[in-house]
Amino acid sequence: MASDKDRPLVGQAALVTGGARRLGRAISLALARAGADVVVHCHRSVAEAGALVRELRGLGRGAWVERAALDDAAQAEELFAAASRSAGGRLDILVNNASIFPKGRLGELDPADLDRNIRVNAFVPFVLGRALARERRGGCVVNMLDSRIMDYDAEHAAYHISKRVLATMTRMMALEFAPRVRVNAVAPGLVLPPPGEDDAYLKRFKRTNPLERHGSAEEVAEAVLFLARSGFITGQTVFVDGGRHMKGAVYG
Ligand SMILES: NC(=O)c1ccc[n+]([C@@H]2O[C@H](COP(=O)([O-])OP(=O)(O)OC[C@H]3O[C@@H](n4cnc5c(N)ncnc54)[C@H](OP(=O)(O)O)[C@@H]3O)[C@@H](O)[C@H]2O)c1
Repeated sequence: MASDKDRPLVGQAALVTGGARRLGRAISLALARAGADVVVHCHRSVAEAGALVRELRGLGRGAWVERAALDDAAQAEELFAAASRSAGGRLDILVNNASIFPKGRLGELDPADLDRNIRVNAFVPFVLGRALARERRGGCVVNMLDSRIMDYDAEHAAYHISKRVLATMTRMMALEFAPRVRVNAVAPGLVLPPPGEDDAYLKRFKRTNPLERHGSAEEVAEAVLFLARSGFITGQTVFVDGGRHMKGAVYG
């Protein structure tokens, strides 16, 4: 039987944005298994979020769904307040996982697309992190980046820029929100196929990292958990990418 030693996050409450599906689901489950109560944010995946919350409650955790579009600062502030209320007036852990990943090369970059990517993928995570820091209780933020911040994702130019902004903001937030709030990041590599692709996509690209395999959602969640648990790490990015970030060549 699991003891409190196996559940280091007992007594803490987490908000996971985009937490109903894919990597967000694995992160929500890992946090709950470590003892945290979890607010699962969703936008469109309402049924998946409801099913996940039932599963988390089955583990004995407090769990709630909060639905919100996260396209601007006001929506982010409202989500934070609602999630905090659901969790009994406190949030200790924020995982900024929700993200958009539209295709588009630099040559066709449109200011509206660039603006939307930066708002959803970088500014909203910052606003949520700032709301946590304003609580003056302490806590930690984990921002989800992408292994490709280390080189160039030419096929997703606006996304690439937005994740680079978030990488810079991770360091800025870590400095500004210290000493009470730690801010770190996880940068996954080849883990889940993007929408419209299947496992053939993962097989096709697995040789693009030194370990020549794809990762699992659980391996990404394990890194989030590690950062949530550690008391003396801030401003750090953990690459969960089979070493992909050292190669510096997209799809290469
Ligand atoms: N999958 C990978 O292999 C991989 C690789 C590198 C980096 N990452 C990063 O890891 C994180 C998770 O990846 P993923 O592939 O699991 O993410 P995903 O499926 O692309 O998106 C996660 C969730 O974000 C939510 N979302 C998107 N736009 C939103 C909006 N405008 N307002 C509110 N919510 C919105 C959606 O929630 P609903 O479904 O509820 O609408 C979606 O399920 C992302 O930050 C991604 O950039 C993933």
